[in-house]
Amino acid sequence: MAATNLPNVSSRFYVTTPIYYVNDAPHIGHAYTTVTADALARWHRLHGEEVWFLTGTDEHGLKVAQAAEKHGVSPQDWADTTVERFKDTWKLLDIANDDFIRTTEPRHYRAVEKLLQACYEAGDIELGVYEGLYCVACEAYYTEAELVEGNCPIHDRPVDTVTEENYFFKLSRFEQRLLDWYEAHPDVITPETRRNEVLGFIRQGLQDFSISRTSLQWGVPLPWDPSHVTYVWFDALTNYITGVGFPDDKAPLWRFWPADVHLIGKDIIRFHCVYWPAMLLSAGIEPPVNWHVHGWLLVGGEKMSKTRLNQIAPADLVETFGVDGYRYHFLRDPSFGPDSDFSYEGMVVRYNTDLANNLGNLLSRVATVVAKKCGGTGPAPSPDSPLAAVAATAFATATRAWQDVQPNLALEATWRIVRETNAHLEANEPWKAEPGPALDAVMGDALEALRIVSVLAFPAIPTTAQAIWERIGLPGSVVEQRLPDAAAWGGYPGGLPVEKGAALFPRVTE
Ligand code: MSP
Repeated sequence: MAATNLPNVSSRFYVTTPIYYVNDAPHIGHAYTTVTADALARWHRLHGEEVWFLTGTDEHGLKVAQAAEKHGVSPQDWADTTVERFKDTWKLLDIANDDFIRTTEPRHYRAVEKLLQACYEAGDIELGVYEGLYCVACEAYYTEAELVEGNCPIHDRPVDTVTEENYFFKLSRFEQRLLDWYEAHPDVITPETRRNEVLGFIRQGLQDFSISRTSLQWGVPLPWDPSHVTYVWFDALTNYITGVGFPDDKAPLWRFWPADVHLIGKDIIRFHCVYWPAMLLSAGIEPPVNWHVHGWLLVGGEKMSKTRLNQIAPADLVETFGVDGYRYHFLRDPSFGPDSDFSYEGMVVRYNTDLANNLGNLLSRVATVVAKKCGGTGPAPSPDSPLAAVAATAFATATRAWQDVQPNLALEATWRIVRETNAHLEANEPWKAEPGPALDAVMGDALEALRIVSVLAFPAIPTTAQAIWERIGLPGSVVEQRLPDAAAWGGYPGGLPVEKGAALFPRVTE
């Protein structure tokens, strides 16, 4: 039997998602990042690593203040109400985050103030006058050259010309330091094309960026000049250190810093890979170990947006496909890197093929034969099964893929075990065979394959993985299993009651 509850912690793993604007209703684009972070966290926990998984909401800034005003409530009340949409969605999707950070929490104010103060004392924040082209939706200034036909390149809407006295973060001083740092840490931005994009951006020359506003109250006041509040991006990025106890370097969670991976969409790469490491270097804090950048989920070839009315809420898909069906699709279908187009029809096909047919049928036909020919008791696997090598290869491939944040490849590898096991059954036709040792070996092998699949697929489909575990009679839970031992062939002991139960994934018709 696979070892359980190993006490040793091989290493630590700190994974974050961006913190989402509370104004938006959560859609499948937000969930894409969060489900991936959750699966990654679960994969690392299965290795006995000490994991910290942080997500949360970005609650300050002009957009929130404006929305609150429109609804006749205070910004805090507005944030308190709208944050629930994110919390509910993550609960629905079985997201097991360790903490949820809101930028309006006192602990976060403390962290932002300290980080500001540290950068100020380092001489990297100075007062200046800003005139710039500002996109309210991005909460960011753009240069003329960055606009697309005079509009914001992200939101395709007009920008405003704004003049104000601001404090500036002296990003221009960090050009060489950042280039040197990136040279010394070649793997910190993945995929490599994104790293090249960032280096190209830095080499073009960096401009100081404004980090405060006097025109707005809804934010963290600057500790040395409270007539200014902090620019929302400085505030938001700080969440990643607030979440592990900054500014208290004695905080127990501080051991998780630097973060192992910040998962981010390509739209926020400049803030994360240029501003954020510069802010940290200024304050004498180590930058993160890795940023993993993914593309957009498109709907009908377009980015989802409120104005285009093409946002899809996760709950609508969960109704049809279930939570695990949902999670599986978004982990298995898009390649985590380039943009990819979401297709409902494609989701139906993949669900029916991979989940209803391949995995669901495998369990149901195994349980049926065991009931009919083995008296309902699962036999032990054979040590020299051809499926042992299939499982070992799949595990090795999945391990590499999770390391590279390529869930689609990890799941593709895992499903190779499912397909090969179905093929093994079809080749041996146990439903036609007489009871006896040969039949027992085939069924034991299939049960062992199911055991391994339930461990390897657990990060993607946690509830179903546990259901399979229980139906093949295994005690305890998948979450207690420890890799790599739990993937080694031969863990299914035999002699356990196997139960058919209802279909794991009822077929979906379009
Ligand atoms: N609040 C900032 C992030 C601050 S992090 C210090 C923000 N929020 S956001 O809600 O607009 O979006 C954040 C992230 O959501 C994106 O970077 C991306 O990870 C995810 N996505 C939002 N829309 C998406 C798609 N259509 N497709 C894929 N991911 C998307 O920016």
